[in-house]
Amino acid sequence: MSTLLANIGELVTNDGGDAGGEEAGPGAFASITGAALVIEAGRVAWTGPAGQAPDADRRIDCDGRAVLPGFVDSHAHLVFAGERSAEFAARMAGTPYQAGGIATTVAATRAASDEQLRANLRALRAEMLAQGTTTFECKSGYGLTVADERRAVALAAEVTTEVTFLGAHVVPQEFAGDRERYLDLVRGPMLAACAPQARWVDAFCERGAFGPDEARAVLTAGRAAGLIPRIHANQLGTGPGVQLAVELGAASADHCTYLTSADVDALAGSDTVATLLPGVEFSTRNPYPDARRLLDAGATVALATDCNPGSCFTSSMPLAVALAVREMRMTTQEAVWAATAGGARALRRGDVGHLRPGARADLVLLDAPSHVYLAYRPGVPLASAVWRGGVLAAGDSGHSTPE
Ligand code: NIG
Ligand code: FE
Repeated sequence: MSTLLANIGELVTNDGGDAGGEEAGPGAFASITGAALVIEAGRVAWTGPAGQAPDADRRIDCDGRAVLPGFVDSHAHLVFAGERSAEFAARMAGTPYQAGGIATTVAATRAASDEQLRANLRALRAEMLAQGTTTFECKSGYGLTVADERRAVALAAEVTTEVTFLGAHVVPQEFAGDRERYLDLVRGPMLAACAPQARWVDAFCERGAFGPDEARAVLTAGRAAGLIPRIHANQLGTGPGVQLAVELGAASADHCTYLTSADVDALAGSDTVATLLPGVEFSTRNPYPDARRLLDAGATVALATDCNPGSCFTSSMPLAVALAVREMRMTTQEAVWAATAGGARALRRGDVGHLRPGARADLVLLDAPSHVYLAYRPGVPLASAVWRGGVLAAGDSGHSTPE
């Protein structure tokens, strides 16, 4: 059964040059005006000018609207209970963001039942899908005991293959006097309990969380257990996180809010993706990272939400795109690329983030004629239909007729 998406105003394919060495993976931003696309067996089978479209079993008229690859949100903390709106309100009244607020969510998460955590996770997944996110990463990190972290990765694995073990989020209060003993737990029994269901290992390398030697110890232990490192780095000030990410060949250095020239050069000269999370700066009132400086230096940039109850409680990739364009001097094309192909690079995925033939048929139909509208109409829900693996997963595609 093949489906033709006909009469597409703008089809963003990310099928430009430089496929990053990965044959089927995303290339540079590229789009076709007046296009069509064919889905077959859950994959993109054909893209091209509308007039050359082949026959298909079913036809959906896109009415001149834009079609994009589904967003790839490569950084999210979705396994948690409770909320921290009072902390947000205090921040807006002048209290600065600090890593210490994580303890509030740890207490609520430990106290929650599996069913409560699962329901929250599924609600967030539905919220993301409705906004066009078809692939997302999900971290543990609000359990911080062996049993609670194991539970968090198991719940995350129910909803995504991109599961990250973040036992090194902060030192929990019961280990406050003995960081070494907590690190031994993370590198030992906690990692052993979580590694079978995770793909990634992460550490919050920041003042108030973990220093570079501590983060390195956790990440190398994770690597020895078969996980790939990614790092929370340089969020609250300049520091060693980005250099550590590059040293370890991490897939991604996330936040990158405060960078030295040496950090920018190190990222530009490496395969480590710089993942920017502008929702965090919006929600903490910190300065935005300088995306222009990273892009001009040649670094690969991804955009993600960092959805979590503390520093940034939004699941909206369109908001990340709009903020990146308005506040971080990214062009609309750069921002859409970073939110799709960039996220795929940060997750080392060749099958998503682009619409080359062979890609997974993860698509967003916008209620707008071009990708520009994501920044031009901020805050407006523009995703009118979302397909995942060729199946309509959210919204309504409009008129569909057998050919
Ligand atoms: O990415 N930085 C560490 N973790 C989250 C914040 C978590 C929280 O405040 O609950 C982040 O911003
Ligand atoms: Fe985070």
